[in-house]
This record gives sequence, C-alpha cells and structure tokens, in this order.
Amino acid sequence: MNVDLVVAGSGFFGLTVAERCAADLGLRVLVLERRGHIGGNAYSEPDPETGIEVHRYGAHLFHTSNRRVWEYANRFTTFTGYRHRVFSTFKGRVYSMPINLGTICAYFGRAFTPDEARALVAGHAAEVSNPSNLEEKAISLVGRPLYEAFIRGYTAKQWRTDPRELPAEIITRLPVRYTFDDRYFNDTYEGLPTGGYTAWLERMADHPRIEVRTETDFLGVRDDAAGNVPVVYTGPLDRYFGYAEGDLGWRTLDFETEVRPTGDFQGTPVMNYADEDVPYTRVHEFRHFHPEREYPSDRTVIMREYSRAAARGDEPYYPVNTAADRARLLAYRELARGERGVLFGGRLGTYKYLDMHMAIAGALSMVDNKLRPHFTGAARLT
Ligand code: FDA
Repeated sequence: MNVDLVVAGSGFFGLTVAERCAADLGLRVLVLERRGHIGGNAYSEPDPETGIEVHRYGAHLFHTSNRRVWEYANRFTTFTGYRHRVFSTFKGRVYSMPINLGTICAYFGRAFTPDEARALVAGHAAEVSNPSNLEEKAISLVGRPLYEAFIRGYTAKQWRTDPRELPAEIITRLPVRYTFDDRYFNDTYEGLPTGGYTAWLERMADHPRIEVRTETDFLGVRDDAAGNVPVVYTGPLDRYFGYAEGDLGWRTLDFETEVRPTGDFQGTPVMNYADEDVPYTRVHEFRHFHPEREYPSDRTVIMREYSRAAARGDEPYYPVNTAADRARLLAYRELARGERGVLFGGRLGTYKYLDMHMAIAGALSMVDNKLRPHFTGAARLT
C-alpha cells in the first residue's frame, strides 16, 4: 500500500500514534513490529492449559489520573473495578506494601497513631545525614529497621549488587504512608481491561487505513518501507544509531511460569519476597487479577520474577540511568535531532520508564504537536 506514515513498534505508544493518525488525520499508516505479535510489553495471552490470562512481559495494571487518556482508553475497552494491592513476605511474616501505618504497626508489633509512627521513622532516619550510597540514602528516608526488612534484600536481588555499592541517586524517594490506606496506586482511575490487554490493543489497530506487519524489524527494511515518508520510531534509541555512543544500560527480568494443581496458590495477585535468600523478587498469580472471571477451580498459573542487568540480546525493561547512561543519552538525543523526518517516542525510543498511561499521553502529544501540524501543512517536521 502507499503509506503516509511508518510507525516502528506496536506497543501503546506506536498504536496510539497509528490509530489517531488513521482515524483522525485520515492517513494511511504502516506499523512494523519486530516481534510475532502486537502490543509491546502490555501483550497478554490465555495460558493454553487453564485459559487464565497471562501477562507475558510482567504484570500490567492500568491506572491514570489523566482524564483524556482514560476517555481515550475507554473507546477500545471497558475496565473492571480491580484495585491493586501488594504484600511482602519477610522472615515468614506477611506485610502490606507500600510501607503504610498497617505495615509499621505489624512490623514493630504495636499500635501507633500517625504522629507516633512519623516520629519513630524520623528518629530512625536521622542516623544518616549525608548519604553516599543507596543503603545510606534509604536509611535517611525510612530508617534502618524498615530498610533492613523491606528494602535491603529486595534491592540487592533487583540489582544483583549489594546496596552499599549502588549509587544513592537510584532512589529519590521511598513512599511511606502514615494512614492505613493500602492501595498501591493513588490515581483517579484504575482497572483492568475487561476482555484482556490483547483485545484492547487489537481494537486500536483495527482500522482500514492501518496495516500491521509483525516479525518485521524496521531497521532491516527501512529504505523499502519508509522511502521519504515520516517515521515514528519506538524501538531502542542506541540500536537505531548502531550503538555509536555506547550501550544504554537496562535491567531485565526473567520469568518462570508454572501451572500449579491448586485453585489458589497465594490468595493475592502479587507477593513480594524481601528475604535475600529467596532468589526471586516476587510471585504473580494471574487468576486474582480477574476475580470476576470463570477460571478452573483446581489449577492456577503463577510466575516467579527474577531481576538482573540486561545484556544486548535481553529484553530491556527498566533504564538503569547511571551518570554514564545520562551522558550517552544526551549524545543520542543530539544524533536524533539531526535525523530528518524521524520522531523518537515511547519508553525505548526515549530511554525512560513509562507507565502505559504515560506512553499513551506521550503519543497523543506527539500527534497534537508534531504530526498534525506537519500533515495539515501548518509546520514541517524537522
Ligand atoms: P513497548 O516496549 O511496549 O513497545 C515497543 C515495541 O516496539 C515492541 O513491541 C518492540 O518489539 C517493538 N520494536 C522495537 N524495535 C523495533 C524495530 N526496530 N522494528 C520494529 N519494532 C520494534 N505500565 C503500567 O502502566 N502498569 C504496569 O503495571 C506496568 N507494568 C510493567 C511491568 C514491567 C515488567 C515492565 C517492563 C513495564 C511495565 N509497565 C507497566 C510499562 C509498560 O510496559 C509501558 O508503559 C509500555 O510498554 C510502553 O509502551 P511503548 O509502546 O513505549 O513500548
């Protein structure tokens, strides 16, 4: 087909751009996707044995306070009333996360008022005033007892590094709530797509002016596919430029999925494991994301999550963002500015952790501020 725009990548960023440009601007859009399926990391699929919806690239919970994004998402799916809650196991006991008044009372074994708890934590946190590594930074924020219980082992497993050897700048804040509110997110809107993520993503791509080609790496076909047509590229920024300025650092995850012969493995969707001698960081049990669905009562799907630094062939999940990474990012941004007719977006194209609502909001802004002015002749893409 003759196309007006090429989009590399079919995650939430790429599909939002494609959908708006096709439906609203009347453009013919070609979406190229390297993987064998659309949807990027939000992709989910039914487990073949139980039919339970599994999030292949890690658990995805939708939440936003952005009304425009919420209304846009609701054009393609309805949402359940799911509210996310997380627990953490430490030394054989279970606590509520993020750290809240309930966690503090349970951990110290007595009732505290909010003011008493605040004074207790402030007293512990005063131990460190000039943090020089992640451990000291965390202690300066929540004090040693809570750090040692809930942060030290978990962080060491996330980075496979002793927190005393990690830079302080990795954390800027650690949320502590001095109420019994145990909801994980405090956004205005929250829920899970009623028919699953893939049905939602497929509806976004389902437009007569959108063609999607999976198993197609944009970088392998760019001259044939794009010609002189504008491109929105949502793949890794360093890979686009042949790693000319060096590799941007990422953390990756390994997932171990298993069907267990029980109707309920852990009684909750996500259980963190804070002890350092438990090798995984958390266990997801997918049936609990959809209590409204009819799932088998004698089997369940669990997924253990392990974390480590990513090598070049691994899935890049979380930007590491060291000072060296930030210097490389600036160099890549400079190269990107010189790339005529190509816009870089999404979490990989900007080297930024983005929640789904942020990826959608970023794509809507790119359409408003760059693509619409270009295609209506008001301003040219540089
Ligand atoms: P995304 O990575 O989804 O899509 C990019 C696509 O581009 C991929 O499909 C890739 O294959 C393709 N691609 C790359 N290079 C290409 C090339 N050269 N040619 C063609 N295609 C190419 N968010 C949230 O709101 N709630 C949550 O609970 C979670 N949970 C979560 C867990 C984990 C483990 C991670 C890593 C992330 C989350 N997220 C999340 C974040 C969420 O995954 C993220 O917001 C979206 O994936 C962003 O969408 P993008 O389109 O930017 O990237």
